[in-house]
Amino acid sequence: MKTAIIGLDQIGANLSRSLALAGESILIADRDHRKSRAFALQCNGRAHAVGVSEAIRRADIVIPCIHFAAIPQWIERYREELRGKIVVDPSNPIAPDGQGGVMKILPDDESAGQILAALMPPGTKLVKAFASIRPESMHAAANRWPDPAVLFYAADDLAAGDAVAYLIALSGFVPLCVGGIDQSIRIEAFGDLNESGALGKLVSYWEGRALLRASPRYSRASAVKAVREVKEVKEVKEGKPF
Ligand SMILES: NC(=O)c1ccc[n+]([C@@H]2O[C@H](COP(=O)([O-])OP(=O)(O)OC[C@H]3O[C@@H](n4cnc5c(N)ncnc54)[C@H](OP(=O)(O)O)[C@@H]3O)[C@@H](O)[C@H]2O)c1
Repeated sequence: MKTAIIGLDQIGANLSRSLALAGESILIADRDHRKSRAFALQCNGRAHAVGVSEAIRRADIVIPCIHFAAIPQWIERYREELRGKIVVDPSNPIAPDGQGGVMKILPDDESAGQILAALMPPGTKLVKAFASIRPESMHAAANRWPDPAVLFYAADDLAAGDAVAYLIALSGFVPLCVGGIDQSIRIEAFGDLNESGALGKLVSYWEGRALLRASPRYSRASAVKAVREVKEVKEVKEGKPF
């Protein structure tokens, strides 16, 4: 599956670098094409800078690493290209609070994931991921061993979730599914599973499992899946395909 990363500021740049260094061939785009061309030079020849429309058309998985407030317009603009794709939403619905901090720009009980899922064109599957981590941790906490750090994700579609879990593993983290898109709020800023939110840190696989087991939605099936994912991360690290 081909992945396109759109927007190369903090999360987009760190994720592109991680995937490229893991050997994944990716497409990258920014509205400033000079920026994506220059950034491609830092990615071991594994990142190919193209325009936004071309990146979406050629990819199976599209990750818009742009501000939450800009994503609805982005979806409208690229509606046709996005049909049938897996879209990964890393967004946190926050803005500066005017006092040096940030505040949530949605009502407390709403999530960016649910709002954006409802805006997707028919056949497009949204997966919430990469929202729970600080950009600097994407490099600093990647590939910890033997106690890898977890990145939580939420998905309604199992196959789409698996495809994104693979990207999480390639980027050096253990993917743990928190449930459907209605659980996105737990991963987003101020959520109980966000590194900068109530959780306040990245957690190990066993800590992550304990946190999810505390949730009534955490099923035996997802526990079995998580164990398989840990093994897959180990195999990636040892250079074995899975
Ligand atoms: N930073 C964090 O701590 C953090 C952590 C987790 C998740 N996130 C989420 O990740 C997303 C990206 O955040 P960020 O801080 O990495 O980046 P950001 O500061 O939001 O910058 C986004 C990048 O994408 C470009 N861009 C904006 N709109 C675009 C469009 N329509 N098409 C193509 N490129 C576009 C921007 O270009 P211009 O400079 O020209 O606007 C910029 O290069 C956000 O949704 C954020 O909530 C951020």
